[in-house]
Amino acid sequence: MEDRIKESLKKAEVTYDLEVSSPGRVNLIGEHTDYNDGFVLPAAIDKRILMRFRANGSRTRCTVKSKGFDSVLVVDLSKMEKGTEGWHNYVLGVLDEIQLLTAGLRGFDCEMETDIPVGSGVSSSAALECGLAFGLNELFGLGLDRWQMIKLGQRAEHNFVGTQCGIMDQFSSVMGRKDHSMLLDCRSLDFEYIPTHMAPYVILMLNTNVKHNLSTSAYNDRKQESSSGLKIVAERHGVPNSFREITLDMVNGCREDLGELRYRRCSYVLEENQRVLEAVECLKNNDLTSLGKLLYESHRGQSEKYEISCPELDFLVDFSRDWEEVLGARMVGGGFGGCTLNIIHRDAVDSFVDAASEAYKKKFSIGLSPFQTVPSEGTAIINRHG
Ligand code: GLA
Repeated sequence: MEDRIKESLKKAEVTYDLEVSSPGRVNLIGEHTDYNDGFVLPAAIDKRILMRFRANGSRTRCTVKSKGFDSVLVVDLSKMEKGTEGWHNYVLGVLDEIQLLTAGLRGFDCEMETDIPVGSGVSSSAALECGLAFGLNELFGLGLDRWQMIKLGQRAEHNFVGTQCGIMDQFSSVMGRKDHSMLLDCRSLDFEYIPTHMAPYVILMLNTNVKHNLSTSAYNDRKQESSSGLKIVAERHGVPNSFREITLDMVNGCREDLGELRYRRCSYVLEENQRVLEAVECLKNNDLTSLGKLLYESHRGQSEKYEISCPELDFLVDFSRDWEEVLGARMVGGGFGGCTLNIIHRDAVDSFVDAASEAYKKKFSIGLSPFQTVPSEGTAIINRHG
């Protein structure tokens, strides 16, 4: 059965109607603040997923072929249920959410390939969700706007994947702009493009190639811990239940009621929000040295207060501190593995990568995967045929 589908996709390769390119993202600063009504400063990147689509004339039969995984997902739109293989639920979740919003979805074939490292904190999943929604919206004239596509991608993760994620990843993938990061207020969803020029510095990502397997449950735990802490502080002070309505003084005043763990979670969120706003000022003033310091402080908060780092990430961030050419470094994304982001002078990249790779290998017996990246365009149709 699979062979037949593969064969037919191969034959159909030249007759795709539409090509979509959808990026991963890096987050300069503002981690685990999105689901806490906070601020984030992400950018879409030049690592992307490429998806080709065609309507196949069927009412409900869809195929999605992933080159990377060399497997084909076959979906019947009239019988949506959760899948077992990792990436399948991102696709199934998006299709389900689209069907809840519109009646226009029909059978299609899709083929995709990507150079975004999977499970590395740079949102290969949001790239997939947004590329899929974008392509199908265009292919079938579904009339969804960008925010609808962003939000349905987020709901797909909640309902099919089981991660209670915030809005940052899908927002970054869809709204990205070349040479800009984006200050997003996750409470109001207002956002501002911030010119992000770093020369002679560059953004260097070091992929630890580890993903600790409790990451989904630990992610959801963090959300629960911060919101239960917030509730205590807000109730005590009679203010609305939002991190934007409470202050560090209020959190400090409730330390005993909160207990140490919730105290750390809540104070981290407020401090990280403040760092995001300061980071924007640094970019506007072209003060990369101060931006770098904020990155280090942010990582400390993630490691010690929010506890979403891991030994591999901490090791790489610490390693970078001895290099004056590195202005700052921190973990990115959900945490518990994935990449560190380093702001480094371009002339030092090669020697730093060599030294970090050697030290990392020695310590963990794991190879490091470095890549440079730049703020790039968001999800877009790149080709229309026929
Ligand atoms: C994951 C989630 C985002 C965000 C980050 C942490 O990438 O999908 O919504 O919470 O973690 O900042």
